[in-house]
Amino acid sequence: MLAPGTRVGEYVIVRRVAVGATGDVHEGRQTASGEPVAVKVLHPEWCVHAEVVARFLNEAQALQELRHPHLVTAVSSGVLADGPPFIVLEWLPVDLHQVLASAGGRLPAEDGARVVRQLADVLAALHAKGLVHRDLKPANVLVARREPGALEVKLADLGLAKRIAGEGALRSALPVSTAGSALLGTGEFMAPEQWVRSKSVDSRVDVYALGVLWFQMLAGRPPFTGPEQKDLMFQHLLEPPALHLLEGRAPERTRALVARMLEKKPERRPSLAEVLAGRT
Ligand SMILES: Nc1ncnc2c1ncn2[C@@H]1O[C@H](COP(=O)(O)OP(=O)(O)O)[C@@H](O)[C@H]1O
Ligand SMILES: [Mg+2]
Repeated sequence: MLAPGTRVGEYVIVRRVAVGATGDVHEGRQTASGEPVAVKVLHPEWCVHAEVVARFLNEAQALQELRHPHLVTAVSSGVLADGPPFIVLEWLPVDLHQVLASAGGRLPAEDGARVVRQLADVLAALHAKGLVHRDLKPANVLVARREPGALEVKLADLGLAKRIAGEGALRSALPVSTAGSALLGTGEFMAPEQWVRSKSVDSRVDVYALGVLWFQMLAGRPPFTGPEQKDLMFQHLLEPPALHLLEGRAPERTRALVARMLEKKPERRPSLAEVLAGRT
């Protein structure tokens, strides 16, 4: 972690606000203006892992190239004098996990639908550039406006984002080794195919995770929970979601759409365009 007072380019560190798997997020200030920012720094021990460093640099590059109203804005990036790379982000201290917790776990159906539309919009923009997020969950959704009826969210954490070659794909990315079989993602939000072959998934895992998030915002809990990863895996692979938990919480059209987003087979899930159109 960076000590308070540490200088990072034209910013100064105030305090650490989050400890991640491979990096820390700090609150910082622009020295000249006093403007608050977030400074994400890779842990020094990960700096020797080429794959982790490549992912971090790719995240910085993608955030700086892909401007979108519902994507967190990166204001700069670089490398500290002693090695670790950093990304400076706009300061958005509240995430959707906290908003849900303070609201008793659920949001009114209209607020949930609004959040889903905004996320579907930014995910579609990522997919158009050949990027799959792969780690959509409330802690990776930052809240820019909190007022009920006017919630505004921004997607964060492209740390697990996967690049798929193709037309319009973002270029000059660093290659990320696909060796190893480490599970990538967060159990409650991982599509069946992501459990089985996490490195070769496509954009439809983001549709599934968005379905999980929508279900959670309506029901107050994700469709599948369990004490261990293997319990979660079996449920995602084999068990139908408890759709009855959504009854009375959202219109029939919404419930049908969520059900399709949670289909086990990727080809049966709706496209993000269909989600945006509210089509079932
Ligand atoms: N721009 C930001 N402003 C304020 N807090 C942030 C910002 N970005 C991330 N955070 C906080 O730090 C946490 C970890 O950041 P994230 O980008 O998700 O990294 P990780 O890859 O470690 O999960 C987030 O869940 C959030 O609480
Ligand atoms: Mg995260």
